[in-house]
Amino acid sequence: QLGRTAQASRYRVEAFESLGSTNDEAMARGRAGDHGRLWIVAREQGQGRGRNGRVWSSPPGNLYCSLLLRTPCQPALAPQIGFVAGVALHRAVSAVSALSPGRLALKWPNDLLLDRAKLAGILVEGSMAPGGDLTVVIGIGVNAAHNPADTPYPATNLGAKGLPVGVSPLFAALSDTMAETLARWDAGRGFQLIRREWLERAGGLGEAITVRRPDGDRRGIFVDLDPDGRLLLDEGTRRVAIEAGDVFLTAL
Ligand code: BTN
Repeated sequence: QLGRTAQASRYRVEAFESLGSTNDEAMARGRAGDHGRLWIVAREQGQGRGRNGRVWSSPPGNLYCSLLLRTPCQPALAPQIGFVAGVALHRAVSAVSALSPGRLALKWPNDLLLDRAKLAGILVEGSMAPGGDLTVVIGIGVNAAHNPADTPYPATNLGAKGLPVGVSPLFAALSDTMAETLARWDAGRGFQLIRREWLERAGGLGEAITVRRPDGDRRGIFVDLDPDGRLLLDEGTRRVAIEAGDVFLTAL
């Protein structure tokens, strides 16, 4: 099944029983000169990583995968790739779960929520390759069968919602939607289209939210994404563009 997917999207796939982190393995391949379009998939991870140095709990039963890309774009465009991955992930999970669209939502910058609890996360890491291309690793973890209990944000999994989706069909769908969405992104030329698609799937748009940052919490109405993907927060007296932070879809 994995092999068929690779052929359909012209991406290669290497599947492992166990790895420390699929992101680390993909990044090591990039450093060793791999030309990209390579998926690394593992049944479990010993050192799965989340955003902001957090641990990503990775027992067998969930999907852990990383896509290595080499793209001739500027490092400043790297954050756009998280939105590309978010749109692709939303489309893939929608397709395999047949959930009504309103139950799945993207949470800025690139989490996937099911019934407002975290179902999947994306970790984009990158570096410049010697030839001037950007080497990017898009790591995606989907809680198919398990979710950690003690997270800052409520978490869930597909099985717990009565949706027993296997990791193979999930990965097959994701591999297809990623290839298709990346082609439309077109190394940044199609970002405004992707931004609109992201906004169509966004959770909390027009609602009061809290953005947690190292320098404190900010509260306001989530009004839009700016053309670079920053979250626009209306704080009443002013509108601020936020580059990084953890969003809570509620006024904490
Ligand atoms: C987050 O929401 O904090 C991002 C989580 C990303 C987890 C995935 S699992 C596959 C890949 N390998 C890792 O070590 N992390 C990403």
